[in-house]
Amino acid sequence: MSTSAGESSAASDPGGLVIRTARADDIDRVLDLLTHYDQPRAAFEPWYEHDPAYRPEQSWLAETHGRLVAHLRIYPRRLRLGGGATMTVAGIGNVITAQEARRQGHADRLLRAAVSAAADAGYAYSLLWTHLPQLYSRHGYGEAPEEILHAVTGLPSADACVRPANDADLPVVAELENRFDVDRSGPAVRDLAFWRGSRNWLGDDVLVSDRSGRVTGYVRRRVERDHVNVVELGVATDDLHLGRVLLAAAAQPRQGRLRASLPPSLRRALDPWQSAVRDSPGLMGRPLSLPALASALSSNWSSRLRAVQHPRDVVVPITLPGRLASLRISTEGVRAMPELAAAPPLDPGALTALVLRGCDARTVLLLGDRADIDDLSAIAPAQDFVLWPTDAF
Ligand SMILES: CC(C)(COP(=O)(O)OP(=O)(O)OC[C@H]1O[C@@H](n2cnc3c(N)ncnc32)[C@H](O)[C@@H]1OP(=O)(O)O)[C@@H](O)C(=O)NCCC(=O)NCCS
Repeated sequence: MSTSAGESSAASDPGGLVIRTARADDIDRVLDLLTHYDQPRAAFEPWYEHDPAYRPEQSWLAETHGRLVAHLRIYPRRLRLGGGATMTVAGIGNVITAQEARRQGHADRLLRAAVSAAADAGYAYSLLWTHLPQLYSRHGYGEAPEEILHAVTGLPSADACVRPANDADLPVVAELENRFDVDRSGPAVRDLAFWRGSRNWLGDDVLVSDRSGRVTGYVRRRVERDHVNVVELGVATDDLHLGRVLLAAAAQPRQGRLRASLPPSLRRALDPWQSAVRDSPGLMGRPLSLPALASALSSNWSSRLRAVQHPRDVVVPITLPGRLASLRISTEGVRAMPELAAAPPLDPGALTALVLRGCDARTVLLLGDRADIDDLSAIAPAQDFVLWPTDAF
């Protein structure tokens, strides 16, 4: 599979409209267009100049008579699904139409072209965050639940050996992340270049706990105007004390006020501070290639079925744009099939929740009253799910 969703594809119409992927000499104009978010160009430059995985052809452009009027970017990610399994995801971000060209269908056209190219390129899934779900639901995306924790921490303990990370710490920090996140669902698989580059575009600080020269945990934070955003926490789940130490140190610049996306296994680190769990709306997802999705889910879902006492095939019916399909799970593997099941099909939001979160309380609520809920819970039990904001787009 190529990392770009579309090579140099182009479609034009007699009205002078061209939809195509970008070339290196387009990026300047893309950055100018991104200021139509009402943010300075400098806010976007690091995402284009320091992301080692960025290729101009991941940018999709709409031009009218040679003028750039809209842009969309594909962010390639490989997300962990637990147990060593991963799933390729075409993230969608930086969707922008010039102020004077809005409501003329440009974003719609870009989405159609980019989603279709990403499916052809073999990506299993697509994810995005938005405040305009109606723009994406007509392209087959559904809303999936996500939470954020709010807390006011105590003061960091005087003996906390927490210090800012330097570049030399990054290989150890990356290794810790690999170890802590290996069984989680949601964190992206990253290389060292991502770790180095993302510090530029996230504008964040990485703090590490340093016990006699040994780095044992880390926290990534962004200090906002009135709180600290914890974009990632790396501690062992049996060392929540260290989690508390790191969170208190991270939140110090804003008198302890923090917001954090944390997997269930780390949430108890916030226990002493009466944290509140709030909905964080905006996450949407849809499958792109069912065979690729089936292959990504195969090892986890089939091995769980093998652990059931009298295993029988489970069929997960799915709604796709304009058609129904299903995933058939046997003890041998998962296969994409035409529609097979009598059970009501899962909409893309419910499928996204099932794939990433498993049958935790939020997913079960979304799935509603279903006769096959025990089967779904057996193949996809609740996961230690988190989408670290570090990996978002
Ligand atoms: C959001 C944005 C990209 C839409 O671009 P666009 O080219 O105007 O969108 P389209 O004309 O293709 O609209 C397609 C559909 O999306 C929905 N939509 C688009 N803009 C919308 C808005 N401001 N409010 C509500 N729905 C909207 C509508 O359903 C629309 O279909 P309709 O015009 O037939 O009703 C554009 O308004 C923009 O650049 N906004 C600022 C940046 C931003 O918010 N980006 C999105 C981040 S997720």
